[in-house]
Amino acid sequence: MHQKIIILDFGSQVTQLIARRVREAKVFCEIHPFSYALENLREATGIILSGGPASVYVPGAPQIDPAIYQLGIPVLGICYGMQVTAHNTGGKVITADHREFGRTDVSCDTTSALFADLPAQQAVWMSHGDRIEAIPGAQVIARSVNCPLAAVHAPALNFWGVQFHPEVAHTTHGAAIIRNFLTKICGCRGDWTMGSFIDEEIARTRAKVGTEQVILGLSGGVDSSVAAVLLHKAIGKQLTCIFVNNGLLREGEAEGVQKLFADHIGLNLIYVDASARFLTALAGVADPERKRKIIGKLFIDVFKDEALKIKQRGGAAGAEVKFLAQGTLYPDVIESISVHGGPASVIKSHHNVGGLPADLGLGLVEPFRFLFKDEVRAIGTELGLADEVVWRQPFPGPGLAVRILGDVTADKVALLQRADAIVREELKNAGLERVIWQSFAVLLPVKSVGVMGDECTYERACAIRAVTSTDGMTADWAQIPYAVLGTMSNRIINEVRGINRVVYDITSKPPGTIEWE
Ligand code: XMP
Repeated sequence: MHQKIIILDFGSQVTQLIARRVREAKVFCEIHPFSYALENLREATGIILSGGPASVYVPGAPQIDPAIYQLGIPVLGICYGMQVTAHNTGGKVITADHREFGRTDVSCDTTSALFADLPAQQAVWMSHGDRIEAIPGAQVIARSVNCPLAAVHAPALNFWGVQFHPEVAHTTHGAAIIRNFLTKICGCRGDWTMGSFIDEEIARTRAKVGTEQVILGLSGGVDSSVAAVLLHKAIGKQLTCIFVNNGLLREGEAEGVQKLFADHIGLNLIYVDASARFLTALAGVADPERKRKIIGKLFIDVFKDEALKIKQRGGAAGAEVKFLAQGTLYPDVIESISVHGGPASVIKSHHNVGGLPADLGLGLVEPFRFLFKDEVRAIGTELGLADEVVWRQPFPGPGLAVRILGDVTADKVALLQRADAIVREELKNAGLERVIWQSFAVLLPVKSVGVMGDECTYERACAIRAVTSTDGMTADWAQIPYAVLGTMSNRIINEVRGINRVVYDITSKPPGTIEWE
């Protein structure tokens, strides 16, 4: 059994970052709403109370049961997590004369375990209007000019509190402060590695699945690919992967995914070429939302048809398809948890495979539902998957349909596939692949005049889109060197018949989105 840190979420925007820092210290952790039952906290090696947007004095502000400070488990309170501790244990929270937002310098007591081996003066990131004035029995272990209790230790409560945010990158030694809490205060061993996870997950999957059959919708993306390899290792031929070619994939992708999985790994793979079905359904449809809906529904239809066939075959052989495997990640799970408890706090089931209906009648196998993307990548590498799979860029479910503005035809798909392949090839040649979150071409519904040789042309324009991002929620347009953009443009115009103009998209998100539709 790994030790577990429980993070109680008070609604901070950056609670996931606390989990990231804990995982980076090789300690397992889970995030739960602040109202998580006291009984469930007993299995934790340490508890972290997140920040939150509220003031403790606002009616209905989240509170905490003071009994958690008597469980014999160390508690770290961050910002609101420290204020709510003061408020609920007989201390005092006041509205600060000087609100602090952004970088602040603090002086730390390096004899405290929280700041052990760290500089006495350090830059931290603050974001608070209230601050604590007293907490019972607390010693001050850090102070700033405007915040005399920037960090405290209250031995009787087994509590450490910081007014600043150690989880954000702007707090220079934030990761080390969290690591000190984990190792020096909670006594965490730091044995949560992806190697150990693989072995444990294989055992868990075998126990859950028994002799039944499992199907998995394989998209070729990182999460489903790594899930396929891991589950194949766990249950071998009991796993069947279904790869649907919707005719909207990138150049060479249908062949690439089949080759990778069929030849190299030897797992059961059903390839369904449904491209004609998708393109027929999309004919003449230009509205982005309608395109998405048509694709989503058709995907389910195709998947259901195939699942039924396997079920019939499996049933005849004595074992039935009882489970659907998905590459759901922890951020998707967290996002569906309501911080404020109540019925909505139940974790909703996630449908990675384009919104599968509940009446599919299958149990879920989600090996990564507690993992972040970088952890899944590490597992992929550990399992021997090629870098090109592990570091594959995200690709939207509706595929090239949302990168062809206007109606979708097979000819337009072919044009875009070629232009898109050139963008990706040149990015790779420039060694920029891992720096860029996503890079692709978009086919515009515009024609413009050009001149090639002595001939006048009147052909389509395409846009190059390349962004940097850490999570896809916000993004900036990538400052790709002009020479690389020049090569991309030259090659597209020379090699792709039907495109005579290339533009570069310099819109960040927000206000734009990454995709054009
Ligand atoms: P936007 O365009 O909303 O995209 O900024 C954010 C990220 O999500 C991807 N994306 C999708 N992924 N199904 C998916 O699986 C979709 O319908 C979809 N739409 C956008 C997009 O590629 C980017 O990484």
